[in-house]
Amino acid sequence: MFPWGRALVEIKSIELVHFRNYEQVKVPFHRGINIFVGSNGQGKTNLLEAIALLSGNGSHRDAKDTDMLSWQKDFYRIKAEGLTFNHPFQIDLLYSGEKRKKVQLNGRTLKRIYDLSEAVNTVIFSPEDLALVKGSPSERRRFLDREIGQTSPAYCDVLQRYQKAITQRNALLRRIRQKEATMAELDLWDEQVAPLAVELLQRRLDSIAKIAPYARQIYNSLSEGKEELDLTYRSSFPLQYDRNYWLDDYKKALRDRRSEEIIRQVTLVGPHRDDLQLYINKREAKLYASQGQQRSIALSLKLAEIAFIYYFRKEYPIVLLDDVMSELDPQRREQLLKDLHRRQVQVFITTTHLRAFPATMMKEMALFRVQEGRLWPTSE
Ligand SMILES: Nc1ncnc2c1ncn2[C@@H]1O[C@H](COP(=O)(O)OP(=O)(O)OP(=O)(O)O)[C@@H](O)[C@H]1O
Ligand SMILES: [Mg+2]
Repeated sequence: MFPWGRALVEIKSIELVHFRNYEQVKVPFHRGINIFVGSNGQGKTNLLEAIALLSGNGSHRDAKDTDMLSWQKDFYRIKAEGLTFNHPFQIDLLYSGEKRKKVQLNGRTLKRIYDLSEAVNTVIFSPEDLALVKGSPSERRRFLDREIGQTSPAYCDVLQRYQKAITQRNALLRRIRQKEATMAELDLWDEQVAPLAVELLQRRLDSIAKIAPYARQIYNSLSEGKEELDLTYRSSFPLQYDRNYWLDDYKKALRDRRSEEIIRQVTLVGPHRDDLQLYINKREAKLYASQGQQRSIALSLKLAEIAFIYYFRKEYPIVLLDDVMSELDPQRREQLLKDLHRRQVQVFITTTHLRAFPATMMKEMALFRVQEGRLWPTSE
């Protein structure tokens, strides 16, 4: 399903203190497939969320640090040890109520949390991924941004600067509306915002060009050759073919929409308004895809993300599968696990029951029982 290579990254152990419903746990992991089994509401997803935080993205559920902090506690900590490209790493995340958490990689404090992606990358599959197809454009932008961001801290940097600039620009639009600021100030802002927007656009389009063939091939095999998946980027303003004109294109779009923007007090054009469009057999998936097709599209995009990360890093990400095994038919399930296993990808899977796992693979996996925020190795 994805390119041939071998994973060289592994989390050897994790320690959680006051994280969600975990008071304090420390567990060693298996280098291959790890399964967390337990009833609903016991802490399985919480654990995957903690592992995903190690790659420097925010929570996959979009939770804030204050949400992840155990109730009535004043700090949470996540520590992990592992290997990346066969070199040991230690990660220490500490949140104690301030605006940003303190992040250390190998004892060095990082200014930017997303620099953690140097050590660990993760791709997470969860039931919420269905929203990728039918949800709002922001879901698909988030997918793109996380995917590109993991392979490029520089992209995260530009994205953050752009988002901040847009927030400030919106505030300026409000002040102009109230006659507290002038158009000349807006001209100055637009000069600042435009190059950031164009940079984001270029990176997104380049990434889609890379990811689309993977996603297409994977979807094609999931549908047994019957259907084709296409991905295209929809910009919120007209773009010429030649990238050299994009800066002018964006500035023109800002000028054209200016009066409307002042009335509405929001920036209406730019990468924060764009979309990733998905098509099956040339029809827009958002409008026509069935439940099963939506699941296959989401799965194809995530598997393509694994391939994309491998392409850039020559290293697979750690794969987190939250409750998705039962969504796949037995044949696909086994295929996916075998593919990951053969490439020595470290995988963390949550499930409420073990029926979904092929008996032949059980001996290659490590099992953990999750109950009321406690976690221990088990053999059944
Ligand atoms: N900040 C927090 N502090 C303490 N407990 C929390 C916090 N946030 C969530 N919880 C608790 O964590 C539990 C949910 O954990 P989680 O989402 O990991 O469940 P799960 O095992 O994945 O269940 P399911 O199988 O239903 O998906 C709930 O009992 C919830 O009350
Ligand atoms: Mg869960």
